[in-house]
Amino acid sequence: MNNNFLINLRFSLIKVVFYYYIKRRKMKKIIAFAGKGGVGKTTSLVLFLKYVLENKKAQDILVIDSDPDANVADVIGEEVKFCDTIGGKMKILKNKIQSMKLSPNTPKNQLIESDVYTCLIEMDDFDLLEMGRQEGEGCYCFINDVLKRVIDTLSKNYDLTILDSPAGLEHFARKTGRDVTDLVIVSDASKMGIHTMKRILEIIDELTLKFEKIWILGNRFPEDLKDILVKEVENLNRDRVKLLGFISNNEEISKINITGGNLIDLSEENSSYQEAIEIFAKII
Ligand SMILES: Nc1ncnc2c1ncn2[C@@H]1O[C@H](COP(=O)(O)OP(=O)(O)OP(=O)(O)O)[C@@H](O)[C@H]1O
Ligand SMILES: [Mg+2]
Repeated sequence: MNNNFLINLRFSLIKVVFYYYIKRRKMKKIIAFAGKGGVGKTTSLVLFLKYVLENKKAQDILVIDSDPDANVADVIGEEVKFCDTIGGKMKILKNKIQSMKLSPNTPKNQLIESDVYTCLIEMDDFDLLEMGRQEGEGCYCFINDVLKRVIDTLSKNYDLTILDSPAGLEHFARKTGRDVTDLVIVSDASKMGIHTMKRILEIIDELTLKFEKIWILGNRFPEDLKDILVKEVENLNRDRVKLLGFISNNEEISKINITGGNLIDLSEENSSYQEAIEIFAKII
């Protein structure tokens, strides 16, 4: 066979391998949803997940529900037993230590981290990790430290990690080693929602957290109030903070929620989902 042909073939192969390597590296994203309690973080996150799944925007997806009141599972109509959450595993471990089945000198962190992998719930198209609540006395510092390490180690195995953050931003106060690439701050049409949005931005400055992009998402804003959020974002005068857009209040979303349905099954023609598709295309 011609030598030139073989050399060209080798170069082409290297190019293809390099292209896919770069593409896969570029894909790794960690996206967190934050905002005041009840503004629609989990709802927006699940609509984002639906958008990613239906448009095949990522292959390996991990959803981490870091809210102690397990939430994502509720919105997708799944029941997660407490013992299958990280909080649940911690309780079992604590009982084992107390009943002397384990030496108190056994490193607790390592035990919990190895248990974390058994908490991964495999759904059809993504994996779900529920933090669950921490029972008994003690603060959330420990569980948050575990969460930090979980995000750091687990997210390396996924193209896309989506985080549902608790309202209090506890885990942002403990910087994760791997930088969250995009932060979506959700606000509803309330003074408190906008106040929390600004507070989150202050915390980000105080802790010098690095996000490639910070997006503001207005959920359930009546048409005539949208301008208020637009102006608020403009007045922030920050390059990295951009208005993502709005998702309208929608009866079907409320209905799915109260009847315990799966929000991912929301009709593709649903007007709020159509809005979601348009705005989430800015992220991925
Ligand atoms: N666009 C929407 N249209 C209709 N209902 C909505 C919409 N967004 C959120 N909701 C409803 O509002 C309620 C709160 O939403 P959600 O649970 O997503 O908020 P959250 O910010 O995650 O709350 P928490 O801080 O308690 O975790 C739910 O009942 C949800 O169905
Ligand atoms: Mg929630």
